[in-house]
Amino acid sequence: EKSGYDYFMLKEIAEQPHAVAETLLGRLNEQGDLLLDEVRLTDQDLRDVDKVFIVACGTAYHAGMVAKYAIEHWTRIPCEVELASEFRYRDPVLDRSTLVVAISQSGETMDTLMALRHAKEQKARVLAICNTNGSTIPRESDAVLYTHAGPEIAVASTKAFLTQLVACYLVGLHLAQVRGIKYADEVGAVVAQLQEMPQKVEQVLAMMEPIRKLARELADAKSVLFIGRHVSYPVALEGALKLKELAYMHAEGFAAGELKHGPIALIDEGTPVVCVVPSPRGRGVLHDKVVSNIQEVRARGARTIVIAEDGDTAVEPYADHLFHVPVTPTLLAPLVTTVPLQVLACEIASARGHDVDQPRNLAKSVTVE
Ligand code: M6R
Repeated sequence: EKSGYDYFMLKEIAEQPHAVAETLLGRLNEQGDLLLDEVRLTDQDLRDVDKVFIVACGTAYHAGMVAKYAIEHWTRIPCEVELASEFRYRDPVLDRSTLVVAISQSGETMDTLMALRHAKEQKARVLAICNTNGSTIPRESDAVLYTHAGPEIAVASTKAFLTQLVACYLVGLHLAQVRGIKYADEVGAVVAQLQEMPQKVEQVLAMMEPIRKLARELADAKSVLFIGRHVSYPVALEGALKLKELAYMHAEGFAAGELKHGPIALIDEGTPVVCVVPSPRGRGVLHDKVVSNIQEVRARGARTIVIAEDGDTAVEPYADHLFHVPVTPTLLAPLVTTVPLQVLACEIASARGHDVDQPRNLAKSVTVE
């Protein structure tokens, strides 16, 4: 069933263009309007929403972090994202005009389920983004948007993550559309950009050989750090999580701007630092800030592994290893920048001789709190 791949994880990484395309399929009519049939909330319910809370765990939480940037930008509704295991113990302020979005691949994660139940007790509306038809989380939600990633077997989440991002973008665009606010103008353009993403993910996958080679060189590293800003910050966290769970290595993700407030002290001669660089177009300030963060870590001896957009020449002088991803709008960039980090973790783990699909101490679905 691995269709010739050594691991399910590699197969699932390769399936990502298809998974993204499937998750977009049937959600747009001929005019390009979003059709979220599975969302059983009325448009009026969605117009009444004055606050969005996203709750999730692990990789799904990182998808939620990306979603916050997109949802707030497109809808201007305040959006918070919280680890499901923390959410209900904090006594969050919720009422019937709060939309709680629970993201879960399995639909059975107990922490997320308990957060959802708490939200319902407080009368909030709950929308599930889930990959498993008929599982508990969608069954207990007011509305569901299924990701169409297909079954994910490897413990490390890959294709489910990309499809969770797509589903989150669709929710954000739909909210913007029904509420008719200023950024609703952007909806058609973003939908067209989303349609191009399967092909861009395919392009990234075709360029992974140098990442595999680098992975073999990094297999003995003591620690790997990941930095990013804006939507690349959750991508950095996701890259670090993959490496921890598969390679059992110390790995940490940081917001690039936070380095100087402490973590930069970790950098030693040769410490690998993976830097996820935002597009130089659009929000140029963001790009330039990350480039200076790369200079800072390199000046302290870091071995910089840079993921940057095609044509971004400004990063070249500071990159010990440079990997390009296709030109992509800033908010959608995690769909391409995450892929090299998945491959890197998988290959490092494999070089260290670990069982990539069944890492120690972990289960695919965590059904205890
Ligand atoms: O099934 P869920 O999406 O609710 O699972 C959440 C996390 O347990 C999951 O994403 C976990 O972090 C993965 N093993 C990460 O690769």
